[in-house]
Amino acid sequence: MSAATPKPVLEAPPDVARLEGQAIVHEPGALRALLQGWRRGRPGLRVALVPTMGALHRGHLALCARAREVADVVVVSVFVNPAQFAPHEDLASYPRTLAADCRALAAEGVTLVYAPNAVDMYPEGFQTTVAVTQLAAGYCSLSRPHFFGGVAIVVLKLLNQVMADVAVFGEKDWQQLQIVQRMARDLDHPTEIVGAPLVRDDDGLALSSRNAYLDAATRAQALALPRALARLQAQVAAGARDSEALVAEASTAIQSAGGQVDYLAIADPTSLQPLRHIDRPARVLAAVYFGKTRLLDNVALASGAAS
Ligand code: PAJ
Repeated sequence: MSAATPKPVLEAPPDVARLEGQAIVHEPGALRALLQGWRRGRPGLRVALVPTMGALHRGHLALCARAREVADVVVVSVFVNPAQFAPHEDLASYPRTLAADCRALAAEGVTLVYAPNAVDMYPEGFQTTVAVTQLAAGYCSLSRPHFFGGVAIVVLKLLNQVMADVAVFGEKDWQQLQIVQRMARDLDHPTEIVGAPLVRDDDGLALSSRNAYLDAATRAQALALPRALARLQAQVAAGARDSEALVAEASTAIQSAGGQVDYLAIADPTSLQPLRHIDRPARVLAAVYFGKTRLLDNVALASGAAS
């Protein structure tokens, strides 16, 4: 740790295990006991949760920084959630880098890492589901129909286990953020769901743990995605309003660079209903395959006064 390392507002007691200097617990019971002790000792203590699947990058760390701004204690969960992977997907090969993750989180002033095991999250006989029906109906669900069911159940479990004041999610996964917000509201969950801006690499590619799958040539091709979205954004700022034409042009640009568009759409930011005419704030949502790697991106569209 460098001298500049931010210290957690509240440090985990010395009997909590450390990995690369970062306090870490694995069992839900141990997590609950620690949080209860902290809350009892400090009435009014604000706790933030940042759920992740690990393989952390600057995008995740930005969520932790946001969490520190709004809470005294930051808990980061690291759990590669089997329920959100279909059998043919990359659960087995998903990057698992817990020691490096802990090193990065210790340097970020995170109070506690919670890295549960799958058997504790999904014990024998587990059968409960959560469906946020309309928001999960399109976009990522088209090619990953199982996905948001798995996300919703694990996020609800994490929210219940931590009972944080605030949970921070990235705008990188725009549809996921809307679903989690809706679920928390519909189920009267006391945790406030906060969105944090999408973080890009220097070349414009949205940071993602799956970028690790890209070789140099494919990564260069993948830049067509953020470029097409930035161009679309500029076109709307300059007065373009016809969603279909804009989507067609952006899709063609991506395809000619070698991408295979899973979906590319212009939608209302909250209801996610597609917009034909961009006469109010909107969001472009996209998922594109470059080689075998599926990348997500999204940008805001501000149509301004004239529409
Ligand atoms: P994961 O892909 O690890 O992402 C964890 C959190 O980091 C999510 O809220 C995601 O939106 C955010 N994030 C990822 N890349 C980002 C970027 N470039 N800029 C800003 N935020 C970024 O999303 C998941 O895990 C899982 O579905 C999870 C919510 C943990 C449930 O298993």
